[in-house]
Amino acid sequence: MKNNKENRFPLVVKTLLGLEDVLAQELKEIGTTDITTGKRVVYCRGTKETMYKANYWCRTALHVLKPIASFDINTEEDLYDRINGMKWEELLNTTGTLSVDAVVSNSILTHSHYVSLKTKDAIVDRFRDLFDMRPNVNIENPDLRINVHLSNNKCDVSLDSSGYSLHKRGYRLQTGIAPLSEVLAAGIILLSGWDKKSNFIDPMCGSGTIVTEAALIALNIPPGYYRKSFGFEKWKDFDADLWDKVKTEALDLQTDFEGEIWGSDISERTIDIAMDNARNAKLHKDISFYVEAFQQQIPPEGGGIMVMNPPYGERIKPDDIVQFYKEIGDTLKQNYKGYDAWIISSDLNALKFIGLKPTKKIAINNGPLECKLHKFEVFEGSRYKKPKEDSNPKE
Ligand SMILES: C[S@@+](CC[C@H](N)C(=O)[O-])C[C@H]1O[C@@H](n2cnc3c(N)ncnc32)[C@H](O)[C@@H]1O
Repeated sequence: MKNNKENRFPLVVKTLLGLEDVLAQELKEIGTTDITTGKRVVYCRGTKETMYKANYWCRTALHVLKPIASFDINTEEDLYDRINGMKWEELLNTTGTLSVDAVVSNSILTHSHYVSLKTKDAIVDRFRDLFDMRPNVNIENPDLRINVHLSNNKCDVSLDSSGYSLHKRGYRLQTGIAPLSEVLAAGIILLSGWDKKSNFIDPMCGSGTIVTEAALIALNIPPGYYRKSFGFEKWKDFDADLWDKVKTEALDLQTDFEGEIWGSDISERTIDIAMDNARNAKLHKDISFYVEAFQQQIPPEGGGIMVMNPPYGERIKPDDIVQFYKEIGDTLKQNYKGYDAWIISSDLNALKFIGLKPTKKIAINNGPLECKLHKFEVFEGSRYKKPKEDSNPKE
């Protein structure tokens, strides 16, 4: 298929706060053009092939939307009329299923659920009027997932080419207590600038999300490799040959990895879960798992990248969390010379007690939790930073 300008169309790719630039780079690498970033979103233009690739390859994408209409509304009747006037029969069969996701900000219509219902009514009424039959709603696995974005009085209507969120990779069988989103894990690894040759360690790996994403990156396996389905596979214009081509090309792009990927955790049960997940992804030979307390751990020689998602303190007492983060800092200084350590936490006060000066601080969200990702470069004589004695552990 020719990637010429004529068959390009706009794409709106959603991500997590803090990962917009990483996603923009990923979208550039797969061949999209006219890339600009917004808050939790990247706009670009692509072909059908790059849309398939964005779903299959972009590790930091949550949803790849294809805009199909944009108009102004002043009343809820405007919304109904404009949606009802669109040729939905070209996109969906009467026997098909649909769902509508709505996002509303500063709009005359304030309830997203109401906007989604109104949109659905306008679509099914059109089918009933034309064919005396209507498609049904299926929230979990619809044939057509429609996205409505209302901001002020501007309404953007898109088709969700991903279907269910792309963070659901399909390799995770079970999780620990506080698993990281796969998209966030991949985003942190890409932000770390890991060279995919040196050692990679997560010493509080829980269910193994970060090390599994690291192995996928090291071996250049697409994050969509394990997924059962994508939204675009049910579209009327689905090109099965093109999709096969995208997947076959990806197989040829897989690489070997000679370095070490280590995941460890103090909890044996959690390591069992991590190993099951890695085995399910057929990555168990690429990751070494250990049951070990971080404070006792000696990482492999030669330096590399360490990414850590320690407990944030929701389940640990404030006094203990300060001591815990102090111990993380002490262990880094003693055992991790030559490593760049990236630590994500929502406990901004506890992070101060690591006692090293971060060389980077990135605002990032883990689900509803506002977090900071701090980078510490650990070397001989690393600068010790004394936390303020009056820091309030509950701050
Ligand atoms: C927030 S969870 C990590 C979740 C993980 N990123 C995932 O996606 O499943 C924190 C983990 O730190 C582990 N942990 C707590 N204290 C530890 C210690 N001293 N040494 C090693 N692991 C520890 C816990 O068992 C837990 O699995």
